Amino acid sequence: MDKFVINGGKKLTGSVEISGAKNASLALMPAALLASGKSTFNSTPKLNDVYTMMKLLNHIGVESSFENHIMKLDASKITSFEAPYEHVKKMRASVYVLGPLLTRFGYAKVSLPGGCAWGPRPINLHLEGLKKLGADIELDAGYIIAKASRLHGAKINFDISSVGATGNIMMAAVLAKGTTVINNAAMEPEITNLADYLTKMGAKIDGIGTSLITIEGVDELKAAEINTIADRIEAGTILTAGAITNGRITIGNVTPNLMDAVLLKLEDSGCIINLSGEKISLNAENNEIKPADVMTSIFPGFPTDMQAQWTAYMALATGTSTVTDSIYIDRFKHVPELQRLGADIDVNENRAVIKGVKKLQGAKVMSTDLRASASLLLAGLVAEGTTEVLRVYHIDRGYQRIEEKLGQLGAAIERVAGEEF
Ligand code: EPU
Repeated sequence: MDKFVINGGKKLTGSVEISGAKNASLALMPAALLASGKSTFNSTPKLNDVYTMMKLLNHIGVESSFENHIMKLDASKITSFEAPYEHVKKMRASVYVLGPLLTRFGYAKVSLPGGCAWGPRPINLHLEGLKKLGADIELDAGYIIAKASRLHGAKINFDISSVGATGNIMMAAVLAKGTTVINNAAMEPEITNLADYLTKMGAKIDGIGTSLITIEGVDELKAAEINTIADRIEAGTILTAGAITNGRITIGNVTPNLMDAVLLKLEDSGCIINLSGEKISLNAENNEIKPADVMTSIFPGFPTDMQAQWTAYMALATGTSTVTDSIYIDRFKHVPELQRLGADIDVNENRAVIKGVKKLQGAKVMSTDLRASASLLLAGLVAEGTTEVLRVYHIDRGYQRIEEKLGQLGAAIERVAGEEF
């Protein structure tokens, strides 16, 4: 288990490129199961979660190669229809194999994911949607066993907009017989990226990028190629690192209009933002951080995956702000760790009230989940003295060598390998 040792107080300057989006790759890769032949995903990020998905697909019989960020997956010879507990417990997104396996082969056995680090994350919408498409689903010894001779189209209305359920049902419906309508579908760009890929495979999908998606099932799909979209959460995290350090940075290889909510909040907090093509520049050199309240919501709202990082940023604002998470009401495991660094934060239900302090003080802190770790890293960049962020395997799940990217911008972060962290 590695740790990061950060010497705080360095202003970030310069530019860095953003990688492909984790949550796009985790949806795209299972889509390879829908056809025989070689699927190609360009700009795939080198992340632990991506390797976990690759291993799960390998277990199912998919042949893979991964070089220069090009992931090739060939699902011509499937040897298993099972996602075992050992894989799913590492990463909940493993449940994405359920829809494609079931629709192409008529059978899937997938371990139930269980709770995640910050609380319950049910998959009832995935299962209810598949049942509507005609799947026979039973739970046995911690496993979902899904069967269907051929799925059929259906009208599905999600009570809650769910990224994962939309992705799973879309992948199931593209090979179902007849028309499927998904109402209140997730509009997140990663789901649009998946829908675009399915279309390239030969799927017939209408309403891509909207909350009403109509899918006309086809008999067969063919493997195709697509570029993975840029990671808007990595981009937001690095911009916030620039902001919290009073820095001046540029990030490249991004799609700025997919990041409006975060960019507007950065402006509200006093940063100057400039957009130019696929680049975003942030200038916070003369900035006193102004308090800026956020409420997370589905796309195009402020992403829950930026909530922890924003909380760390607001810990240094010149007044009081609130951060409310309406997606995951219990995603505040970072708060006690930020308090160890001197932050003044009170959490009541799903709302953090953050009284800005003049400075944070370096300490040892513990990563509990991916975005919580990112928030500790940001706090460490400005805390006085040395901050040690333990258990950075959480951060490696979703950020590709973040210490190198931040190091390129002038941050003093060292990765130290060791058993006891
Ligand atoms: N929900 C249900 N039932 C379901 C599915 C979801 O009640 O069957 C609820 C959840 O509890 C939550 C809300 O619906 O309150 C939204 O959850 P969603 O299904 O959209 O989340 P997800 O698909 O499990 C993805 C991302 C998360 C991100 C959320 C929200 C992937 C692999 N994961 O999760 O990313 O937080 O959408 O945007 O795409 C991260 O990257 O750190 C991360 C956790």
